[in-house]
Amino acid sequence: MEIADFQNMLRRRGKELYRDMSWRRDIRPYYVLASELMLQQTQVARVEPKFQEFIARFPDESTLANASLAEVLVVWQGLGYNRRAKFLHAAATMITYEFGGVMPDTDMELRRLPGVGENTAGAILAYAFNQPALFIETNIRTVYIYHFFNDAPSVSDQQIRELLSITLDHDNPRRFYQNLMDYGTWLKNQGVKNIAKSKHYKKQSVLKGSVRELRGDMIRVLLDGVRTVEEFDTLFRADPRYQVALEGLLRDGLIEQVSNQFRLTQ
Ligand code: ADE
Repeated sequence: MEIADFQNMLRRRGKELYRDMSWRRDIRPYYVLASELMLQQTQVARVEPKFQEFIARFPDESTLANASLAEVLVVWQGLGYNRRAKFLHAAATMITYEFGGVMPDTDMELRRLPGVGENTAGAILAYAFNQPALFIETNIRTVYIYHFFNDAPSVSDQQIRELLSITLDHDNPRRFYQNLMDYGTWLKNQGVKNIAKSKHYKKQSVLKGSVRELRGDMIRVLLDGVRTVEEFDTLFRADPRYQVALEGLLRDGLIEQVSNQFRLTQ
């Protein structure tokens, strides 16, 4: 497809397919950060009510920074991947106490925030600050593979990045990326299944029977209150995933052992 045709098509389809979202209606950087972390593994429809609950409870970075991890995890339940809640809490702490309460607007500074890698930093630059950053995620891959690599057996993010940089609308990067998201989602809903061609695509792992599932169960027990090591062992030791799950939660700093008790990190 010709570049100019693609750009025109995307603008037109983007207008038709535009989806209202809380973090689009109000683009303050804190909302963009929180929503991007939630959207890393979870679909828009499931994020929307959680996001609203989250910002009602933690309306800004300093409120979030001054909450306990346990309070944050209570609201996070249902989104899964609890590490993201810990990252967001830590990012709010860094913004509040290292960046003077102001979300940074450079790639280098954003990437210092826990949970913010190359693509999330790019998304924040585009959505919050309307900067022409290059970033890639699953919807973007779907769109570019569909229009430019339909016959290729496999496609790298570098190949996509090159086309992205040629087609990016420098006059309105925010709108451009929203168009890509809405059009990419629409393509998937139409049955376009090309994402396995991406060399970087990671299929989301099945929850049932996974270590991640047991980790979630263990967090939920501790949200109820501290447990002695012995109580915790009694609850979980029959599960073959127990040691790995426990070590992971301790390593990620989601839980801690204080003398003979396990608790959520304070
Ligand atoms: N709008 C802003 N960020 C988005 C995302 N990650 N997915 C879909 N739409 C968005």
